[in-house]
Amino acid sequence: MTTSPESHAQNWDLRHPDFNDNDLLYDVYTVMRQGCPFPHTDTPFLADTPGGAWIAVNYDDCYRIAQDWEHFSNNPVPGSADFVIGDLVVMMDPPRQQKLRKVLNPYFSPAQMKALRPQVTTETDLLIDDFIGAGAGDLARVAWRQPGIVLFKYLLGIPAHDVGICFQLTDDALNGATEDIRMTAWGGLYQYIHDTVTARIGQPSRGDMIDILLAAEIDGERLPIEDAVANAMLLVQAGLETTASAMSFAFHHLATHPGERDRLAADPDLLPRAVEELIRYAGSIHGLHRTVTKDVELSGHTFHAGDTVVVNFAAANRDDNVFPDANRCVLDRRENRHLGFGAGVHRCLGSNLARLEFQIGVERVLSRLPDFRLATGARPDFHGNSITRGFRTVPVEFSPGICRHPQVPAGRPDRLL
Ligand code: HEM
Repeated sequence: MTTSPESHAQNWDLRHPDFNDNDLLYDVYTVMRQGCPFPHTDTPFLADTPGGAWIAVNYDDCYRIAQDWEHFSNNPVPGSADFVIGDLVVMMDPPRQQKLRKVLNPYFSPAQMKALRPQVTTETDLLIDDFIGAGAGDLARVAWRQPGIVLFKYLLGIPAHDVGICFQLTDDALNGATEDIRMTAWGGLYQYIHDTVTARIGQPSRGDMIDILLAAEIDGERLPIEDAVANAMLLVQAGLETTASAMSFAFHHLATHPGERDRLAADPDLLPRAVEELIRYAGSIHGLHRTVTKDVELSGHTFHAGDTVVVNFAAANRDDNVFPDANRCVLDRRENRHLGFGAGVHRCLGSNLARLEFQIGVERVLSRLPDFRLATGARPDFHGNSITRGFRTVPVEFSPGICRHPQVPAGRPDRLL
């Protein structure tokens, strides 16, 4: 039997099986936003922290915490992330964090992303080619594979046929049923990335992000090898599930709202705004940690040094005080300063890439399968117990179309992920 939103709000636990019901989760957030400013949880998703964690669910609080890195540090509570080897940009504070970002930023610039557009389009088309002739297929395959192929092939320089294994390890590391499964998967992913990065030492540079990390210098000193490995691993984790799950929601939403699908297909100029709204509505992250460095008051609550705060950007993005009709997906929403990509010094490094992949994914599907709809009798598989949540299957039917790249054999490795 499902527990009530009020009960869940008392001790929010994102791993609870009830949260495979997406509407229930957002009902819980509504209750949490209406109660005391910072509800408490004994079971933060990312790590056990002493005393559990306070949860920020209002837009203004999430925004202020994200901006105030001096009180709300990204450095984890000692003991809560010992499995991470190396300094990750997302677990550091300025000034070193900003210096590392400077190394990585140029690879995600708008100009780089513009140059990547043809490749992203081709990769998306290849994935659609796999099923377009059949008049039926699974759009989750496009959503979950395209971001990984693009990231591996064109940014990290890792063979695209390894996306599948890395994806599985990343997923198990986040969502595995037991601590044992999660830790084993972290270890497997670390080993894979470690071997991939260290194999490149002493090789001619290809100019990809692994080479950039290996050559990076901060304050005149070479980035330690364990930091290069750790940040390559972060890019893999941050770049796979986030965009994939957000895109899977978009496909499900459009497959179940034919009017919205047709409107977007008829007005491609709407696409950038629609993508922002889909990220606000369903593609945001449900809980990242901050550690309080010194006592501080916010919205009448005093946080003490050593407390953990979970910043829930997904809940903030449904705050009615900021987004009128927040629980409705309004594709042409005008005022949309959503926190889907965070805010402040840690604002998403890959947001330009995510937008590019997302926009092209939706655009190619709309233009090649314009009448796609949820397959009759299909039950899309939704996975809800994660900080990134999404549909693992979105079975659709549509009028069959023409394969664009028939010369590419359907069985080549990077089409089998
Ligand atoms: C829809 C897709 C995505 C969403 C919703 C998303 C969301 C976020 C959020 C909320 C943060 C802030 C973390 C914090 O405040 O602690 C973040 C940081 C980050 N994201 Fe993304 N992200 C997405 C896609 C990507 C992609 C495609 C990449 C790269 C391949 C990426 C790489 C990163 C990195 C490296 C950081 C850490 C930045 C730092 O700490 O300075 N993200 N992302």
